[in-house]
Amino acid sequence: MGAQTGKEHPRRLAEIDNSQEQRIETGIGEFDRVLGGGITKGSIILVGGDPGIGKSTLMMQMARSLMTVRILYVSGEESAKQIKMRAQRLGMSNEDFSVLSETNVEAVLDAAREHQPDILIIDSIQTMFRSMIESAPGSVGQVRESTALLMQYAKTSGVPVFVIGHVTKEGSIAGPKVLEHIVDTVLQFEGERTHAYRILRAAKNRYGSTNEIGVFQMTSEGLMEVPNPSEIFLSERQDGSSGSVVSAILEGTRPVLLEVQALVSASYFNNPQRTITGYDQRRTSMLLAVLEKRLGIRISQSDVFINIAGGLYIDEPAVDLAIAMAVVSSHRDVPANPGTCLIGEIGLGGEVRAVPQPEMRVQEALKLGFEHIIVPKANLKALDRMTKGKKISGIDRVGQAVDLLF
Ligand code: TYD
Ligand code: MG
Repeated sequence: MGAQTGKEHPRRLAEIDNSQEQRIETGIGEFDRVLGGGITKGSIILVGGDPGIGKSTLMMQMARSLMTVRILYVSGEESAKQIKMRAQRLGMSNEDFSVLSETNVEAVLDAAREHQPDILIIDSIQTMFRSMIESAPGSVGQVRESTALLMQYAKTSGVPVFVIGHVTKEGSIAGPKVLEHIVDTVLQFEGERTHAYRILRAAKNRYGSTNEIGVFQMTSEGLMEVPNPSEIFLSERQDGSSGSVVSAILEGTRPVLLEVQALVSASYFNNPQRTITGYDQRRTSMLLAVLEKRLGIRISQSDVFINIAGGLYIDEPAVDLAIAMAVVSSHRDVPANPGTCLIGEIGLGGEVRAVPQPEMRVQEALKLGFEHIIVPKANLKALDRMTKGKKISGIDRVGQAVDLLF
């Protein structure tokens, strides 16, 4: 929203009218939460993800949910007929949903100014081009300039613009990171193509927090919301197998229970393998070193595989204790008590450290029927009110978890 040179003057906050900052709620709860409470007028939102992950489907379902909102869907990827087929498959009920097959951004914007949609969707930015630029669609210059023009349109018209961007092999959206600076919000749609779960997260959001995630499941009827991710993430857990432990993490404001799996086996390599999926590699090496040094668990000559079930990536250390205990369980080949949930960060000395918001985590674990919850001792006080009649153990050394679990 560029100021008009020479026309602006300083204003007190009270003089600034922000009542126009209304949002359009998509009606898809998981989506609205990640957006920070709906779509902000005049914002430009990049939706990134691997090809085939479900970006177009998500946009289409948003359009379906916004029944009375006027939507213009511009596709440079699929023909209008293909889009109609997909819309029919998804049971499109929005009668004010229009499709435009066009890749020239200037033409797209001319059409948008005439059509006057409430929401504009561009699928995908890699197919768009500006005639004044020589390079091919998808190149850095084209992607940047096309986005800049769409940005201008969003800001001047107040129409929110969704821009789909495929993640390139280097892992960044639209190749260069430049786009992320231009747009207001960057949503990443993640998941394994071979798994049904899809996680939507905000990597950047000028209009909300970046901590929230939305969880979906891809089905033959499109993306389904998963309002209780814990149940899903734990659903395939097999009681009684070694190397499986449950922890409670926080994704934004929501606690999520998940299964940590470890497999420790004799190595046939000079450099034993360390394959970690869903958690920081170096942090995991630290945890293995702590186990070896503080508990005398000899794993330096073993291959260690660690996996966070369900395809989540965890970026908080509260899962440390669960990872360590999954490793011990697999190393000993003794299953951990399946009704136990572990929460705690581990320090280099083998001490168990407090985690933020223990109440929410413990509540979720109790809700899902876990009967024994192991938490950092330093967190016990905060849990005072919920410990009555419940088996909640506070520990301050990692070795104590081993004694309690096995
Ligand atoms: P799509 O939205 O086309 O992915 P993107 O736009 O990110 O490239 O979705 C791709 C996959 O989703 C495709 O392989 C088919 C699958 N899919 C379903 O399983 N069910 C459905 O209802 C739809 C529409 C797609
Ligand atoms: Mg697509």
